[in-house]
Amino acid sequence: MKTRILLDCDTGIDDALTLLYLAPLVRSGEIDLVAIGTVHGNVAPETGALNTLRVLERAGVHDVPVAVGAGRPMAQPVEFADEWHGTDGLGDIGLPEPAARPADVSAPEQIVRLARANPGELTLLAVGPLTNLGIALLLEPRLPRLFREVVVMGGAFDHHGNITGHAEANVWHDPEAAELVFAAGWPLTLVPLDVTHPTALDGAWLDRLAAGEGEVARFASRILEFYVTAYHRSLGVRGAVIHDALAAMLAVDPSLGEYTERPVRVELRGDRTRGATLWDRRRYADDGDRPAVRVAVRADAAAFQERLLSSLL
Ligand code: RIB
Ligand code: CA
Repeated sequence: MKTRILLDCDTGIDDALTLLYLAPLVRSGEIDLVAIGTVHGNVAPETGALNTLRVLERAGVHDVPVAVGAGRPMAQPVEFADEWHGTDGLGDIGLPEPAARPADVSAPEQIVRLARANPGELTLLAVGPLTNLGIALLLEPRLPRLFREVVVMGGAFDHHGNITGHAEANVWHDPEAAELVFAAGWPLTLVPLDVTHPTALDGAWLDRLAAGEGEVARFASRILEFYVTAYHRSLGVRGAVIHDALAAMLAVDPSLGEYTERPVRVELRGDRTRGATLWDRRRYADDGDRPAVRVAVRADAAAFQERLLSSLL
């Protein structure tokens, strides 16, 4: 059965590269990109929607509805990530406005409508904070039974956080929404920092991309510059982790990963640990009625890097 993706994102730079990775698969008909929703996180959802349209147009993907979603988390003030993605979310290189405009429907409503219209057929791929998914779950309690699969880039288990020492950004930006998503009981695969960080791109990979002459390769190099500079400033190395593209690759080809099953909870009350993703490591864990989710514990970094590069070149 063809993978039919409903994407929820906060288009920022690694979200943009994820769209560029998916584009050739969409153009060849190998997968369907049914619709996209945007959410606060790296940038405001309106900005994320315009960025998504800008990237789709450059990638030769047309007629995919892009709906604007939640502009703030459920229970904390909104924060953005200008220092990693730029004020405009695509590295502040001054891109022109897209030709297309966002859809009239909100992203959570679009999730509910498409799930009802395509029961059991769609893969919901979420690579931003989970506010839209949380709202959709509140709007439609049957939602967990209406998706073929849900793949989320988020969380950190045996790896430090990236927005605090304990919390990964997508979960930290809306812990209440993440808790709703992890407790919902749908066929959920979580792609945490534990598997995205080992796929980090290095200077040699960036040089191979920079040598590309195509429009998409040049665009990817240009928007990556800001992100690579931010990585260099904070970690002192030339490289970047394209977290979201790994989640997309595992949604399209799960054989690239290895998985375990465990119930996952989100810390909501810790002063220093709010947004951390937790599991009970005891042999006789007390997980009550919390359903297990599938967690990626290893991924084929070489295959990821080669497939990403070839999709951009
Ligand atoms: O922690 C990584 C996640 O935070 C990615 O989705 C990236 O785009 C940022 O949103
Ligand atoms: Ca993202």
